[in-house]
Amino acid sequence: MLKDRSILAGFAADREILLLPAMAARHGLITGATGTGKTITLQTLAEGFSEMGVPVFLADVKGDLAGLATAGSPKGKIAERIQELHLPERGYSNQGFPVSFWDVFAEQGIPLRATVSDMGPLLLARLLTLNSVQTALLHSVFRIADDHGWLLLDLKDLKSLLAHLAENEALYRPNYGNLPRQSLGAIQRGLLELEAQGAQAFFGEPALGLSDLLLTDAWGHGVINILEAQKLTNNAPKTYACLLLWLLSKLFEELPECGDLPKPKLVFFFDEAHLLFDHAEKALLEKIEQVVRLIRSRGVGIFFISQSPADIPDSVLGQLQNRVQHALRAFTPKERKAVKCAAEAFRPNPAIDTARAIEELGVGQALVSCLDEKGVPRMVEKAAIIPPQSHAGPLEPQTKARIIKSSPLLDAYAQSLDRYSAYEMLAEKAQIPSPSPKARESKADPLEAILGTFAKKAGQQITNQIARGLGRKLTRGILGTLFGGKI
Ligand SMILES: Nc1ncnc2c1ncn2[C@@H]1O[C@H](COP(=O)(O)OP(=O)(O)OP(=O)(O)O)[C@@H](O)[C@H]1O
Ligand SMILES: [Mg+2]
Repeated sequence: MLKDRSILAGFAADREILLLPAMAARHGLITGATGTGKTITLQTLAEGFSEMGVPVFLADVKGDLAGLATAGSPKGKIAERIQELHLPERGYSNQGFPVSFWDVFAEQGIPLRATVSDMGPLLLARLLTLNSVQTALLHSVFRIADDHGWLLLDLKDLKSLLAHLAENEALYRPNYGNLPRQSLGAIQRGLLELEAQGAQAFFGEPALGLSDLLLTDAWGHGVINILEAQKLTNNAPKTYACLLLWLLSKLFEELPECGDLPKPKLVFFFDEAHLLFDHAEKALLEKIEQVVRLIRSRGVGIFFISQSPADIPDSVLGQLQNRVQHALRAFTPKERKAVKCAAEAFRPNPAIDTARAIEELGVGQALVSCLDEKGVPRMVEKAAIIPPQSHAGPLEPQTKARIIKSSPLLDAYAQSLDRYSAYEMLAEKAQIPSPSPKARESKADPLEAILGTFAKKAGQQITNQIARGLGRKLTRGILGTLFGGKI
């Protein structure tokens, strides 16, 4: 619900709690124990952004956000809250919002894909649980592929390149250093595991185009992009975390710098945020921290959702400035510490014992502190959160299927493409005899002589952005992903 072009998130007694659109790119955090109201809060905020014309991307981890697409028919606690806050008199009306459903497994949404090349070595190394030596090797593998125009689009491409390198290590050693067979083997095994999780569907073409996440409907409402994330978080939690990181880095690399805007260009809700940070090594944490910090200048707001603020590293936590804290339990010493940490993160309000209030909050109540017009955190307030105007909970499968089928984006993504890429290039290369040692010596790069044929063929057949970078060095961004529009 909007009030004076801001999101009306709730009421503290009869004071309105507003989230200002100009402050949304200073990011946010929604925390609280299970069942305390995090998802409902997320849904209410997502609706508010949509109403103000801002597209949203969110991951539906439990399947209970699909209801955003249809009007609510409030019951139980939600109906009580609507009455208690006299919401109909304040402009609340049951309504659905424009939604695009996306699904990596192509079962419950438009297929969402990325190419291996676009994902980049850093995120892929995390996905494959590689150690530092193997990660360094994967970087070399990407460099070899980038340098030679061997397009890594799907897992098949990467697998064939790894097999090729294992067989021809000596040929590459002078330019790229050792490519230890054992480490190549570890990467290959990681890929097999990834396939066992069904994650190969994620890698390939047509890859997601960012502009398809930045849509508004005919009434000027921002489209809410819902990533079906139940199966993904259960079967392939690392793929989930890497996918969202890849999206963030893509947004950062491809959106132009825009300074502080009156309202964000996109708001990104990152549920189960702890999955992003669990076992993340220092280098990756630093990159995440950097992307979160810098993405603000691209007009993108990020809201993390997790049980406790303690799930988020301090360097990231410090950047999440609009905060909604639902109830936390404090039975164990660890839980008491988490409550203390959550309480200390707020600007104190002399009228509230923050730590105690966190324990005593009811369902759908929260301690809230958003930034004011000057970017200063407001004093913490105890608020009743406004329920969503759309349906709270899952959708009937038929309704969801109908919405997916009628999406104007489906045609562009429904069919996967298998273009001429590393797999085919290397298969052809295997048919051609190796050049004589003399021919090799005559070139600064011993491989250039053989590669010409393949690069040429690739250039004829491939029209995507990676192909445009063929023959030039590909530029990789902060998280090792391709500099999309800038190559
Ligand atoms: N703002 C609210 N107003 C009224 N009822 C609410 C509100 N927030 C939550 N509820 C009630 O509490 C239930 C649980 O809320 P929700 O699903 O948002 O919890 P959660 O914190 O996301 O839980 P989990 O950690 O299990 O995902 C809702 O189904 C609804 O009945
Ligand atoms: Mg939830």
